[in-house]
Amino acid sequence: MMDKKPIILTGDRPTGKLHIGHFVGSLENRVKLQNTGKYNPFIMIADMQALTDNARDPEKIRNSLFQVALDYLAVGIDPNKSTIFVQSQIPALNELTMIYLNLVTVARLERNPTVKHEIQQKKFNESVPAGFLTYPVSQAADITAFKATVVPVGDDQEPMIEQTREIVRSFNNAYHKDVLVEPKGYFPPKGEGRIPGLDGNAKMSKSLNNAIYISDDADTIKKKVMSMYTDPNHIHVEDPGKVEGNTVFTYLDIFAEDHDKVQELKDQYTRGGLGDVKIKLYLNDVLQNILDPIRTRRERFENDPDQVYQILKDGSQKANQVAEQTLQEVRNAMGINYFN
Ligand code: TRP
Repeated sequence: MMDKKPIILTGDRPTGKLHIGHFVGSLENRVKLQNTGKYNPFIMIADMQALTDNARDPEKIRNSLFQVALDYLAVGIDPNKSTIFVQSQIPALNELTMIYLNLVTVARLERNPTVKHEIQQKKFNESVPAGFLTYPVSQAADITAFKATVVPVGDDQEPMIEQTREIVRSFNNAYHKDVLVEPKGYFPPKGEGRIPGLDGNAKMSKSLNNAIYISDDADTIKKKVMSMYTDPNHIHVEDPGKVEGNTVFTYLDIFAEDHDKVQELKDQYTRGGLGDVKIKLYLNDVLQNILDPIRTRRERFENDPDQVYQILKDGSQKANQVAEQTLQEVRNAMGINYFN
């Protein structure tokens, strides 16, 4: 039986492996919230959502699903504390989506900033899949099916949570019942939730080929760090260098625990006399220390796929019960329970 702790619902689209941008953007928060013991966390691999723009490549989603499960387990999502499950295995989510679609206008979906941005980025032009345009509605189904009050995600997901809140209000208003619950986003502290790509681009992403993956081995991490964007005008060691916009320092601010040491390096770099290689080697040490135990755990699970799929199966079974219960309440509120 479910305990009374507030429910957390969150997840990711499986379209590839997760990178350290995901780590600071939301994974860290999820582990932290999980470990407080104050919540009942559900973490969903959103394969149906991933299919909204990958319908013709289900194999990619299938493979990514396993990779994302490994990434979750590797960073410390503990199946004894968090329920990890697979979106496509929860039929109630699709029914809720159909019901909510009638409470949302096409114009409102077209105004959703995240969807708008992605439509441009993916160059859909006139060929936006209907499922893609409406994925915020399926996301509202995900969140409300669990009556989640807390949704730990990156900043880019704020518009999804806003739209979910609107759907909750429309539903409760239309059917005069307080069945659904309005969720709140839980975001990383300002400035810490988003790390730039290795090339200095504002976003770390697979398509830009500028990411360090949670699964990268030690040599790959080192190579990537040594290739990072710093200050293009810092040519000789003795030249004064710039710290702002210098990706190595941005990463150090986020990942290094020894803030005094980082400040010292910044001072020296600004004065001149500190080479890029030195700061990169230090960042490499910092990242290796964080990622090494994560990678070890990842490899252990990777060698035991049966266990990983069993975790997903058990989690999906549990998630199904909760979502079915909400669906029944929704049907009752609407009176579409003709044969009960
Ligand atoms: N939209 C999220 C992403 O782009 C994934 C997702 C689907 C999600 N459903 C969710 C996140 C519900 C939080 C809550 O990765």
